[in-house]
Amino acid sequence: MARPLSILFVSSEAYPFAKTGGLADVSYSLPLAIREFGHDIRVMIPKYGSISERKNKIHEINRLREIPIPIGENSWPATVKSSSMNNPRQKVQAYITTNVNYFDAKKGFYADPLTGINYPDNDERFIFFNKTVLQTCLVLGWFPDIIHCNDWQTGLIPALIRTIYPQEFKRAKIVYTIHNFNNLGSFASESFDKTGLPADVRDSVLHNGNLNFAKAGTMYSDCVTTVSPSYAADIMSGAAYSDGINNVIASRHGELSGIIHGVDNYVWNPKNDSYLARNYDRTSVNDKFLNKERLLNRVGLPVQYTTPLIGMISRFSEQKGVRLLLEAADELFAENVQLIILGEGDPELQDAVSELKERFPTKVGVKIGFDDELAHLIEASADMFLMPSLFEPCGLNQLYSFVYGTVPIVRATGGLADTVSDFNPETKEGNGFVFQEFAADAMLVAVRRALHTFHEREQWEAVQQNGMNGDYSWSASGRYYSELYRSLLRD
Ligand code: GLC
Repeated sequence: MARPLSILFVSSEAYPFAKTGGLADVSYSLPLAIREFGHDIRVMIPKYGSISERKNKIHEINRLREIPIPIGENSWPATVKSSSMNNPRQKVQAYITTNVNYFDAKKGFYADPLTGINYPDNDERFIFFNKTVLQTCLVLGWFPDIIHCNDWQTGLIPALIRTIYPQEFKRAKIVYTIHNFNNLGSFASESFDKTGLPADVRDSVLHNGNLNFAKAGTMYSDCVTTVSPSYAADIMSGAAYSDGINNVIASRHGELSGIIHGVDNYVWNPKNDSYLARNYDRTSVNDKFLNKERLLNRVGLPVQYTTPLIGMISRFSEQKGVRLLLEAADELFAENVQLIILGEGDPELQDAVSELKERFPTKVGVKIGFDDELAHLIEASADMFLMPSLFEPCGLNQLYSFVYGTVPIVRATGGLADTVSDFNPETKEGNGFVFQEFAADAMLVAVRRALHTFHEREQWEAVQQNGMNGDYSWSASGRYYSELYRSLLRD
């Protein structure tokens, strides 16, 4: 058998410690899936103020106390703590890096939760995090075979490794995964001076005059990946926005591969999901409606079993297409339908969504914020799940929806286009309802088709079963990365 590899997986969030979006789910499930292949994989994330040490069983490690981390002219202490991520089969070591001012004192991850405004010292916060990751390896004397960095918040790690510690990490190969090209970590050029990178690499990490974390990651890693084939193709062809980083990838690496995500069967499984009023599986999917009462009561909507219920769980941003819902509202809520929306983000969109509740009090339920329990209940109770995204690198909720027998209605973009196929009533093929154009009218056509099909029971069962019968396990992605790591080490 091939030798197990040592792998460091670095991310700015990981379930169950810290989650604002899909990145956290991936940073939990993917390392556990890779662990299945026998590798020694460990995860590192920052310890934001909202992470409870007691709840997450986080404890100190003697050797990793008060490590001095230089930021520009100053130096601040990092203490790296330890915990683990588990499922019933595997356990992955997690290192949680702390610093009082940068992380512990701030409840938000990237932005102040009260104002929604990004913290002004995000450059320093993540320079600090990136450097702490490397210092931890140095103090432990642990130089992994693979360092897998994720998104802009880890983008300086490849540059720091190759320019400051080339000897120590000479065996290591670096993989850099970009989960969303819409946020590449761009800061004023003065931030460069705080990184400690040698002056002669300045040009290679500056992009359009700014320090760009993702460009640094792209320039100094051995391989760049993203999270679905369609999104990868859109990025490289310039069809999806990437601020020109596609050209950097093309010149350095040639291509960009897109690896789709899976569903963590231990976390998202209607058969034993403890948040549900009634568990079910594909043989008893008709029982899913027994969850509706709990959900509708929770959000203050009248319980109407025969009215189709649409769920939506989303970051409120332009990406997620919340605007299409707002534009379509009058026409949509003239139909016999209810909708529950859970999420947070752009304060203006939050207000507009809350207003929907006031305008359509018996039809719309809104919960602003992040609520894991409610998210599970929505997946289980809703009949349909709406994702009208402008772009979607991969998307996880459409996959969770399949598993819960909740039929996705999506715009054909990125990972949504790769996973959801339009239902054809003639052939009974297709696992969802798909529209092409990013427009409220196009979305309404797809929603109305779904509402109509809902009342044709035989057809509805077919589209539900098509979704529930798919294979969404993480092991295919785990195997892909495991093979990618090996192929890099062979080169
Ligand atoms: C980002 C993307 C989303 C993807 C997730 C995990 O949140 O917007 O599409 O599923 O990262 O890769």
